[in-house]
Amino acid sequence: MTDPWVVRYEGYDAQDEGRREALCTVGNGYIATRGAAADCAADDTHYPGTYGAGLFNRLEDRIEGRTVENESMVNLPNWLATRFRIDGGPWFDIDRAEILAYHQELDLRRAVLTRWLRVRDEAGRTTSVTERRLVSMDVKHACALEITYVPEDWSGRLEIRSVLDGTVGNTLVKRYRALSGDHLALVRTAVPSPESVLLEVVTNRSAIRVAMAARTEVWGNGRRIEPQRGIVDEGAVVGHHLTLDAHRSVPVTLEKIVTVFTGRDPAISEPAAEALAWLPRLGRFDDLLERHVLAWEHLWERFHLDIDSDGATVRILRLHLLHLLQSVSLNSVDLDVGVPARGLHGEAYRGHIFWDELFIFPVLNLRVPILTRSLLRYRYRRLPEARVAAREAGHSGAMFPWQSGSDGREENQSLHLNPVSGHWLPDPTARQRHVGIAVAYNVWQYYQVTDDREFLIHYGAEMLLEIARFWGSIATYDRARGRYVIRGVMGPDEFHTGYPGHEQEGIDNNAYTNVMASWVLRRGLETLHLLPAQERHELLERLDLRRQELERWEVIARTLFVPFHDGIISQFEGYDDLLELDWDAYRQKYGNIRRLDRILEAENDTVNRYKASKQADALMLFYLLSADELREVLGHLGYRLPPEAIPRTIHYYLDRTSHGSTLSAIVHSWVLARSERGRAQEFVIEALESDVADIQGGTTAEGIHLASMAGSVDLFQRCFSGLELRQDRLYLTPYWPEPLGAMEFAIRYRGHPLTLRIHGDCVEVQAAPGRQRPIEVVCRGEVAELRPGARVGFPL
Ligand code: BGC
Repeated sequence: MTDPWVVRYEGYDAQDEGRREALCTVGNGYIATRGAAADCAADDTHYPGTYGAGLFNRLEDRIEGRTVENESMVNLPNWLATRFRIDGGPWFDIDRAEILAYHQELDLRRAVLTRWLRVRDEAGRTTSVTERRLVSMDVKHACALEITYVPEDWSGRLEIRSVLDGTVGNTLVKRYRALSGDHLALVRTAVPSPESVLLEVVTNRSAIRVAMAARTEVWGNGRRIEPQRGIVDEGAVVGHHLTLDAHRSVPVTLEKIVTVFTGRDPAISEPAAEALAWLPRLGRFDDLLERHVLAWEHLWERFHLDIDSDGATVRILRLHLLHLLQSVSLNSVDLDVGVPARGLHGEAYRGHIFWDELFIFPVLNLRVPILTRSLLRYRYRRLPEARVAAREAGHSGAMFPWQSGSDGREENQSLHLNPVSGHWLPDPTARQRHVGIAVAYNVWQYYQVTDDREFLIHYGAEMLLEIARFWGSIATYDRARGRYVIRGVMGPDEFHTGYPGHEQEGIDNNAYTNVMASWVLRRGLETLHLLPAQERHELLERLDLRRQELERWEVIARTLFVPFHDGIISQFEGYDDLLELDWDAYRQKYGNIRRLDRILEAENDTVNRYKASKQADALMLFYLLSADELREVLGHLGYRLPPEAIPRTIHYYLDRTSHGSTLSAIVHSWVLARSERGRAQEFVIEALESDVADIQGGTTAEGIHLASMAGSVDLFQRCFSGLELRQDRLYLTPYWPEPLGAMEFAIRYRGHPLTLRIHGDCVEVQAAPGRQRPIEVVCRGEVAELRPGARVGFPL
């Protein structure tokens, strides 16, 4: 039987260690640590990375005569670093040891990682080692490691070296290794008491101080053991060298409690003082564990999800929820952070924030909207920078960056390495202006779900209007067509960076962008009507938005050009003129062709010549908008979308997509769910396996794919249940695969904690007791009122 709360790995596998490290990361939305063994250092097999939310640093390099600058989420000092040796022998090294047994498990319910191994050394001594760790969800500044050593068949001298190691750099991603990765400078080390040490470092450009303090104690037979303590103080490495007499069969337990504070924390005086002040207040490992488990218990109540007959799927979905909440959580709410695409789990994409929140917020909106609000405020604080970006590009309004980091400037790399060809190439993907559409869409959805008018008044409306203004200004009038056009952008499909011969210049009239730009312009106008008169007036004055400009938006929203060919939506203007690719031949030659762009570039060709997409692009429209909504938006633009055009469009692009992004499976399963269950199911499996099976072959080790993780949960939550929140009602139109048994999950809507249960033949909604106003639930045309403490059901 699969335990739906535990992810297990049996046996040590050096080849697989990177993936396991990412998947066994423990974190709390403030800080996270990869599941690397405590006794390893960074090398080609292991990578003990620790990352703090929103901690970035910028470094420069010279490549091919150009200066390039990259901002990265910084790998913080390794707080785990703990090794042992016996009788003065070599320090234990898993890659050299004789391993008799090895077992690793991540307890999803409690967010605790345990590793257990039995090893024999060269002298024939057998030792078992059990390591447990947590990053506290309760006290966000606390991490804890516990290691129990059992000398199974020997007695002798046990030496343990337990340090905080600040000599780390950002070296996880091979493609980036030619670029600088040293972000930290030592400020100081200190030994404030016999059990504790302090390491203080600072990022060398952004000047963020990071202080870690560690308290290390040894216990045996329930009593504290006082080993011989030596201090390790070697540059940016500080800690203890402990020596003690170990006795056959008598366990010895090391506890290492660590506090972490940074210069970006609210409510502190200075990081080192806080790290030291909190260290003695935290108690022992088990004290921290108890509170940590309680915090998770509360989270799991909010994020409850169960499927009767399918433990394997539930386990993956819970793993996905766990990693979501370890990347962003209530601990992030007071921080100025966004959602890094690869979690706090690795260094791919340098910890940057993309449009991926579009796939993530629906899961948070329905459970912890306060968190979405805070993540949207990350965008709001960067609105001034987005305005400058728009102005510098010759537009008005706000142009959000494709990749966002500390201050909201464009963090997209200017050159990137194609690992297949070894070429450094210009990277024009920042032309994906559609990222602003995602921000606007997220603001709108947040408001729809929460009815949070204060947010709209103070932040949301301004973002929506400034983004609308950008689309209103980038759109130009095409006299010949009598329509507005948007030129020189990129859609979500990152393969098409331009037309053949003009590869860097973007494409024209990306259908997704144009349709959604019209949607944004209309939501901008609608938002104005939602504001109370005084606030509306003030905002219009502050933004200097006049009637003429609003009228122009109305016209553009009605007359943007949307390309079609053969009765289907064209991904962009001219797509139809591109060559067909011989997909079979490429599959045969290369096997995995997800990154067709790299393959073709290495062949001196370019993917820009072909009808080949990396991921869902035009189909994003069917993902974000229901068929009715899409028809309405297109209708407003003067286009008709006959019902048969939808499956034709889906199949057309399905045949021409390599799924080089994990987002692709989410969108494809979503758009196929209603019409072709079988095909949809293939993509559901792909979405579920994106990281657990590392389907891209090596990318998971560099960080999880957070949008794919959250998106897969959302497939079960919204897509299969047909859950929609609109017109102040909760709609359910289940398309639930009956063989899976019943699915149950919890959401919050308008203050009601609700439990939804979907069977093949019935759907039920149970409201928790309380004093909230009743809500209306609609299922296939039937409307029912739901009061606190009551339950409504609909036969299907
Ligand atoms: C995808 C983007 C995505 C980014 C970060 C890329 O591979 O093409 O759509 O935003 O990864 O997840």
